[in-house]
Amino acid sequence: MSDTREQFSPLTIAFHWAVGITIICLLAVGLYMTDLPKGEWKSELYGYHKLAGTTVFMIAAFRVLWRWMNGMPVPATDYPAWQHTLATAVHYCLLIATVAMPLSGAALSYGHGHPIPILGLFNIGPPAKEIPWLGDGGSFIHYWAGWALIGIISLHVIGALKHHLMDKDGTLRRMLGARL
Ligand code: HEM
Ligand code: HEM
Repeated sequence: MSDTREQFSPLTIAFHWAVGITIICLLAVGLYMTDLPKGEWKSELYGYHKLAGTTVFMIAAFRVLWRWMNGMPVPATDYPAWQHTLATAVHYCLLIATVAMPLSGAALSYGHGHPIPILGLFNIGPPAKEIPWLGDGGSFIHYWAGWALIGIISLHVIGALKHHLMDKDGTLRRMLGARL
């Protein structure tokens, strides 16, 4: 069940792709929806964005717990220490962002007087009165952490492609389920 150098656990792989792909979509939808003119389509997208965001938070929280129990991945091959340090730092930033983005999104929504949808079953809030410091603080973090996350994901994907295309090692294949 645990990750080894030769093979990742199916849970690691499922968590990685479920959270990773949802977050890339949420970043794209988030930037697109905020630029739309007011209207039904915009409100609909805000609703889906919030629902998918809170759902991914639950999966991401389990994933952080799983990573904490399992430790960070052991490199697939020997490569320079600085590359390993950089990759590990990027992985920590990504893990933190997968939790910080939904939390700041929930804070901005709630603080600005809107409900937080949970699994389409019920809502938390809206609060009786707006909480400006929570809304504005959440908004600031959500916006800037979102842009920082786009930069970090780009670095992460470039790293994965470098391993696959230039070093021709098993780093990407291992995350796709292959045994090295
Ligand atoms: C991993 C999860 C999430 C990602 C990657 C994400 C990403 C983004 C991005 C890139 C934006 C546009 C930039 C901005 O205005 O801040 C945005 C906007 C927004 N997000 Fe999220 N979001 C996530 C989760 C959530 C959650 C859980 C909520 C609420 C429950 C939420 C509520 C909002 C709202 C209300 C806006 C519009 C802000 C405005 O109109 O200024 N987001 N999101
Ligand atoms: C198309 C996009 C992506 C590709 C090709 C990709 C590829 C990979 C690969 C090959 C690894 C294994 C690295 C190693 O063995 O050292 C990895 C690990 C990791 N990736 Fe990605 N990734 C992508 C998107 C993302 C996104 C969007 C996130 C989070 C927002 C993310 C978070 C992580 C984390 C935290 C790890 C460390 C291992 C783990 O906890 O699962 N990845 N990724």
